[in-house]
Amino acid sequence: MVQLFENQGHQIFLGDAIEVLSQQIPDHSVDLIFADPPYNIGKNFHGRKDKWDSENEYLHWCYQWLDLCVTKLTDTGSLYVMAATQNMPFFDLYLREKLSILSRIIWFYDSSGVQAKKYYGSLYEPILFCVKNNQHYTFNANDILVTAKTGAQRKLIDYRKSIPTVYNDQKVPGNVWQIPRVRYRMAEYENHPTQKPVALLERIILASSNPGELVLDPFSGTFTTALVAKQLGRCSIGIEIEEEYVKIGLRRLEILTHYQGEELKREPRVYEKPVAVQPALFND
Ligand SMILES: C[S@@+](CC[C@H](N)C(=O)[O-])C[C@H]1O[C@@H](n2cnc3c(N)ncnc32)[C@H](O)[C@@H]1O
Repeated sequence: MVQLFENQGHQIFLGDAIEVLSQQIPDHSVDLIFADPPYNIGKNFHGRKDKWDSENEYLHWCYQWLDLCVTKLTDTGSLYVMAATQNMPFFDLYLREKLSILSRIIWFYDSSGVQAKKYYGSLYEPILFCVKNNQHYTFNANDILVTAKTGAQRKLIDYRKSIPTVYNDQKVPGNVWQIPRVRYRMAEYENHPTQKPVALLERIILASSNPGELVLDPFSGTFTTALVAKQLGRCSIGIEIEEEYVKIGLRRLEILTHYQGEELKREPRVYEKPVAVQPALFND
């Protein structure tokens, strides 16, 4: 059964992505979709195992919600989709028949965690940036400029121009994005195994949607997409199957303060919990 919670342009669906997309979302109604599905690598999403019986079954499931995402996009809409490195080639081949793939983005991060010792450990996740119409889509380049680190910093002159000029000190980011992963001590951290950073969603939402437009995330997790959409004046739809994660979304989006009698509070970090004070020892 699907449940809907909403407030001021932001909707949260507790339910299955395919069911909600097919039954609750009108076709051609969404300007931007960010999809970060389970990767089929055995993560534990609050007891729900992210593992299918075979690669074929996983891909069959993915193609169903990918088709629905394509149908829900407006004619000028964009889809960003993430996948495990080993599955992205399948997504790429499948989607290029239905959309124009404009960028194959590498989200790169350093990691201090356990590292592979017998092969090269994975330090990136791929993201496809696709549009419905490659002649007519939103790309707000000026809203996502980053510092150009080469010519401008060294104050080089570009003599190839008809009037030689100094290099630009800002540029549109390339397709390798170095953004730190969300760590336990970061203010944005929530209790979820694969939370995506606010900075990643800021770039995507700023570039590929306009204020007032609708952003949808079919696998919302901690609802970072919806949170950033709200902060940037967009409307949002977030879908998530796990009630525990929906509670995070209800709190982050300020849709509810209480859920079934429980106050929705950010879980305190270990180091924030009050330390039991030892009674003082007096010797007389
Ligand atoms: C990779 S995580 C998404 C993380 C999210 N991008 C974030 O920043 O927190 C995938 C999420 O999909 C949810 N999920 C798994 N199967 C689902 C389904 N059939 N429908 C909706 N959500 C599902 C999981 O509970 C998990 O929270």
